[in-house]
Amino acid sequence: MLNISRVGMEFKGLNNENIVALNDVSFQVNDGDFICIIGPSGCGKSTLLRIIAGLQPGYTGNIEYSGKNAIKMNTSMVFQEHALFPWLTVSENVGYGLKLQVRKKENLNKTKDKVMKYLELCRISESADFKPYQLSGGMRQRAAVARALAVEPEVLLMDEPFSALDPLSRSQLQDEVIRIHEMKKIIVLFVTHSVEEAILLSDRIIVLTSRPGSVKEIIPVPAPHPRNLDDPDMIKIKRHISEISGVMSRVYT
Ligand SMILES: Nc1ncnc2c1ncn2[C@@H]1O[C@H](COP(=O)(O)OP(=O)(O)OP(=O)(O)O)[C@@H](O)[C@H]1O
Ligand SMILES: [Mg+2]
Repeated sequence: MLNISRVGMEFKGLNNENIVALNDVSFQVNDGDFICIIGPSGCGKSTLLRIIAGLQPGYTGNIEYSGKNAIKMNTSMVFQEHALFPWLTVSENVGYGLKLQVRKKENLNKTKDKVMKYLELCRISESADFKPYQLSGGMRQRAAVARALAVEPEVLLMDEPFSALDPLSRSQLQDEVIRIHEMKKIIVLFVTHSVEEAILLSDRIIVLTSRPGSVKEIIPVPAPHPRNLDDPDMIKIKRHISEISGVMSRVYT
């Protein structure tokens, strides 16, 4: 279980003023849960993911994984823009984190097997030898997801990973991420601006307030996959989130 307890974060602005990004954020995530986080722009969603990834010093509060300080928790992150290394091929990108983990030469073959496994899992193996500039946006994000999964994280952090994609690629990658999550059963924390995406993907949706972000409401989505957004229960959840969060839903605007 991942336990986020009273997390706060304050930045200094350009004139040295205090910018409180997060205030008293608390929630718990069970092993294998898929959580979506939504909230207005600037409410601290990316900051929260960076804190959980161990990339953001200076926060207050506690993060524990399996009852211990989460400092050694194995996380990986997928960003809105793919953030692949442009000079490496897809398979070299996917293997990059693994190579850092592997010290002995004899284990490098295992690395190759793992890279292949995750390229196949994310259906990008045919482009293994391509460089990022030779890929479509959807293929790049597939490679980015493969790279994040290859280090076999306990917690996968995804910061608006599909929001720059066209609707078809986005919907395909949503299906992939559901399929992969059903296989791997790791914790996923997925930030999105789309209420529909949150409803399609997650077991629970955490709605944050505007800055300083704190938890406004946690909404369960108790429905099996694949989900249908036209289902009356899903419409009810969508309406409720749109009302409480001010996040604009494409359907109701
Ligand atoms: N390094 C930093 N220095 C100063 N202020 C920062 C820093 N990083 C983030 N902030 C501020 O913290 C607040 C939260 O930023 P954050 O990027 O976490 O928001 P967000 O919810 O991810 O927004 P969006 O939905 O637009 O991506 C913003 O007001 C931002 O300007
Ligand atoms: Mg952000």
